[in-house]
Amino acid sequence: MPTDLEGIKKQALADFTRFVSPMKARTMKSAGLDIIEGRREGASVWDVTGRKFIDCQTGSGIMNAGRHNPEIVQALKDALDTLDIGVFLLCSKQKADLAKKLAEVTPGDLACSLFGTGGGEANDAAIKLARGYTMKKEIVYTEKAYHGHTGFALSAIGRDAYREPFEPLVPGFRMVPFGDAQALRGVMTKNTAAVILEPIQGEGGINIPPEGYLREVREICDEHEALLILDEIQTGLGRTGKMFASEHWGVVPDIMTVAKSLGGGIYPISATIFKEELMDFFIPHPFIHLSTFGGSDLGCIVGLATIDYIQKHHLADHADRMGQRFRAGFDRLLEDYPDLLLEVRQKGLMMGLQYTNQSMGPRLTKKLAERGVIAVYTGNDPAICRFMPSLVITEDEVDFVLNALEDSMRELSREGGIGKND
Ligand SMILES: Cc1ncc(COP(=O)(O)O)c(C=O)c1O
Repeated sequence: MPTDLEGIKKQALADFTRFVSPMKARTMKSAGLDIIEGRREGASVWDVTGRKFIDCQTGSGIMNAGRHNPEIVQALKDALDTLDIGVFLLCSKQKADLAKKLAEVTPGDLACSLFGTGGGEANDAAIKLARGYTMKKEIVYTEKAYHGHTGFALSAIGRDAYREPFEPLVPGFRMVPFGDAQALRGVMTKNTAAVILEPIQGEGGINIPPEGYLREVREICDEHEALLILDEIQTGLGRTGKMFASEHWGVVPDIMTVAKSLGGGIYPISATIFKEELMDFFIPHPFIHLSTFGGSDLGCIVGLATIDYIQKHHLADHADRMGQRFRAGFDRLLEDYPDLLLEVRQKGLMMGLQYTNQSMGPRLTKKLAERGVIAVYTGNDPAICRFMPSLVITEDEVDFVLNALEDSMRELSREGGIGKND
């Protein structure tokens, strides 16, 4: 067993390659991201060898409250003195407390929670609840949507590569373009149980819908007595400058799903939060959707500590301010590098850069890694790079990321070989 840090890293990478995923190890290496995470703090992570990075990937938004947040870690440590996961069949004070808190922080009359461990599970539960409550079958989802890889959620993913090997998927799902209310209207029928969408698409490339779209979707759902499910798994908990992205447009869904940052980056937990009237479905079927580890007592304590932290430190407002600082820097880059940067899509600290060419994603990710920034192009389109740092990021750290980006673009521009995609 190696004891020096380089040796420990080499061994971990070799074991990961052999026993976990050779292709992932290879892809990370070619992106300059063959990092083995060691120390984690605030907006940063250190490779085991001691190299520091500002983390703008954060597991696609699981670290809103910062990496290894000491207050959340302490809440979990304290809980471990007396608690374990809990018996899922029994009623639990921790579940009750977190559900009550979620009812308080979510918009409108969202009131009740069904807990899970991850985002896909939360969306599965949402879709099952929509079908069960409305007794209708059709689910409408959007192109480029990402809702997770479990059964119902996978059936609502708008990317063929994730779906095709596993078809036939759950029947009754219909896809429409994101942001197009007319197209949605065209597929709604009296059998539509629900429309599911992300208020801002994350994996799809930080796609912000046109003004008025979400409100129109809400109206269309109401006209057809269909439910609206908003997946706030990436957008929620302060990320976009409000507690939930749907608040930017004043839209209240019938069901909202929250996961990722609810676990504070410490402990997995997700919630499917729904209006009280939908509870009618569970009255005759209280045990119809179970999850042994979903909403475990420890997870609920972490969820509560995370929401407390986000509120106490006004992280949504901070995300808005830091987002504006990023925006000023991005605008300068748009002016200086029109051959490289086509567009910036952003709400708060949910930020996507649209490059002019698909080859730029991998090249810039690598250059950024060399300069101490982790920011990764999207799987859907390598010409789009996502920046989703922890919401605790400081002004100096924002400037560091912007400098690294400018440096990388300058170098790329000098190297050349970038033409616009057709
Ligand atoms: C918007 C959205 N929904 C659902 C999921 C799935 O969450 P999980 O990976 O926890 O199942 C993700 C994960 O990236 C997501 O971004």
